[in-house]
Amino acid sequence: MKTALITGATDGIGKATALKMLQENWNVVVLGRNLQKVQATILELQTQTGKNTISGITADLSVMEDVKKAVETFLHNNDRLDVLLLNANAIANERIITQEGNEQNFAVGYLSRVLMIQLLQDILNKTDNSQILSVMGRSWKRIDFDDLTISNKFSGWKGLTRWQWSFALFLKNYATTNRIKCNIYSPGLVKTKILSNEPQPMRTLVKIMNIIMGISTTKAAENINHVINETNKFIVSGHFFEWKKDKGLISIEYQKDDLKKLLELTSIILKS
Ligand SMILES: NC(=O)c1ccc[n+]([C@@H]2O[C@H](COP(=O)([O-])OP(=O)(O)OC[C@H]3O[C@@H](n4cnc5c(N)ncnc54)[C@H](OP(=O)(O)O)[C@@H]3O)[C@@H](O)[C@H]2O)c1
Repeated sequence: MKTALITGATDGIGKATALKMLQENWNVVVLGRNLQKVQATILELQTQTGKNTISGITADLSVMEDVKKAVETFLHNNDRLDVLLLNANAIANERIITQEGNEQNFAVGYLSRVLMIQLLQDILNKTDNSQILSVMGRSWKRIDFDDLTISNKFSGWKGLTRWQWSFALFLKNYATTNRIKCNIYSPGLVKTKILSNEPQPMRTLVKIMNIIMGISTTKAAENINHVINETNKFIVSGHFFEWKKDKGLISIEYQKDDLKKLLELTSIILKS
């Protein structure tokens, strides 16, 4: 049975995608940071679908030690991984430095995704037609390599756009150096809680925009399912998908040594 590991599957787009995949007869592993929410999600999706091919892992993805334990648990219980859906995120609007010394947005959005890919590389490699899909927004801004934890003029928006830039650059390179298919999916505006803690007036603006143009999580999950199928059908990697559309190769602005610097920094942080 095909297996999907979905991070951030206790709410929003991740949860709706877990439901869709269960309905399509997948074995689904939901990962969330809150044990009660993980258990409640499993129960809810089992009741909704009548399927019990669902299990859960609890991990706070801002903590790399948790990421490692989560992967260990996954590998202990599963012998294949067809889809790794890197979806979890929460925008920290306060500057939080994790116990491991990383800026929270960068830790959850960038570091945990890179570490999961690295630790799941072998199982992805041995599963035919496996793929990685990263759910993230389309606003990307180059990081300041001399101020990775954004001590200067921090904002949640800065945190968000910096990790997204870093991950887009990482994935673009990964696609050219690995045979596992990996792509980015940008969902557009989806009616979830993720932007509900934005500072005003952004919070009100988002509420209005959500009413006017936000899509449902069910629609977003259908789009993700479509992208997963298209990726396998056309053997696409290193692409940027928006809604259901393949927009071609990931296009990102960066300077000459950025990739080298990013990979070196990542390696140092993840080894420590
Ligand atoms: N909604 C949009 O309009 C939109 C637009 C562009 C991109 N995106 C991206 O889409 C993805 C899904 O977002 P969403 O809108 O569905 O948000 P959401 O409803 O808030 O769901 C986010 C999920 O991530 C989990 N999560 C957050 N921090 C975590 C951590 N440290 N460790 C483990 N799990 C964590 C949340 O857990 P809890 O249930 O405990 O909160 C939840 O399950 C995100 O990457 C987001 O950036 C969303």
